[in-house]
Amino acid sequence: MTNVKEARSILRSDHWSEFGKWETDQKKGVPAPPPQKPYPRDAELVELVPPAKITVGVTPLKDVIDKRRSRRRFTETPLTLEELSYLLWSTQGVQVLDPNGVRNLRTVPSAGCRHSFETYLVINRVRGVKPGLYRYLPLDHRLLFMSGESGLDEKITEACNNQRFIKDAAVVFVWTTIPYRMEWRYSLIAPKIIAIDAGHMCQNLYLASESIGAGTCGIGAYSQVKVDAFLGVDGLEELTIYIAPVGKI
Ligand SMILES: Cc1cc2nc3c(=O)[nH]c(=O)nc-3n(C[C@H](O)[C@H](O)[C@H](O)COP(=O)(O)O)c2cc1C
Repeated sequence: MTNVKEARSILRSDHWSEFGKWETDQKKGVPAPPPQKPYPRDAELVELVPPAKITVGVTPLKDVIDKRRSRRRFTETPLTLEELSYLLWSTQGVQVLDPNGVRNLRTVPSAGCRHSFETYLVINRVRGVKPGLYRYLPLDHRLLFMSGESGLDEKITEACNNQRFIKDAAVVFVWTTIPYRMEWRYSLIAPKIIAIDAGHMCQNLYLASESIGAGTCGIGAYSQVKVDAFLGVDGLEELTIYIAPVGKI
């Protein structure tokens, strides 16, 4: 697509007028796709602090909203495991999940409770966690270790149009979407609502970060091909949607 006016089509909600007539997979009785990607039984996992035991993040909401900025300067202070647990719970924490996977309530809203996102983390400085690439398992509230290769901070920075401050982050959140989770219910409407969902999620990261003396900056400028390759996702069934480096400020 080269025409800017054609590109606006994703902003429109025209499809809703036809939605009632569509034979979506949900209407056909196809089971809901799993709300979390599977992982090997023998995977290396990191236990997080359970939501009920998290004590950080008690700054009054009004103060947090008032302070919120996009932060591009981070100190070298690491995050604690409790702080990271809090940020993960704030952005994708599961509160209610029905056994059939249809009602899936989390700390952020999602159209039709579909929650199409997966959260990957490039961990550089979190106390008690070795640096590396991880995936958050929201149903288990644990981290799945994926890779400890060196230079991950440099690679993700380079893939984000070389925005140098990303390398200074204590942890970089990289969110993908699995579009089918949304398409199962909404078919052609999915792309717009996935993009709206991403904004809600990152706003919680902004606010939760500010409430613990940290900060973040939403990153929309990145190479789709490079970040997808970095995570090992195919760019079609799962693709990077948004990125956010976090560090103490
Ligand atoms: C969707 C989105 C994408 C963004 N992408 C980038 C980016 O790639 N690099 C960057 O430095 N800031 C990025 N930003 C941050 C904006 O520049 C920032 O929100 C704006 O300048 C207003 O500043 P504030 O967030 O402090 O109010 C992005 C923000 C949003 C919401």
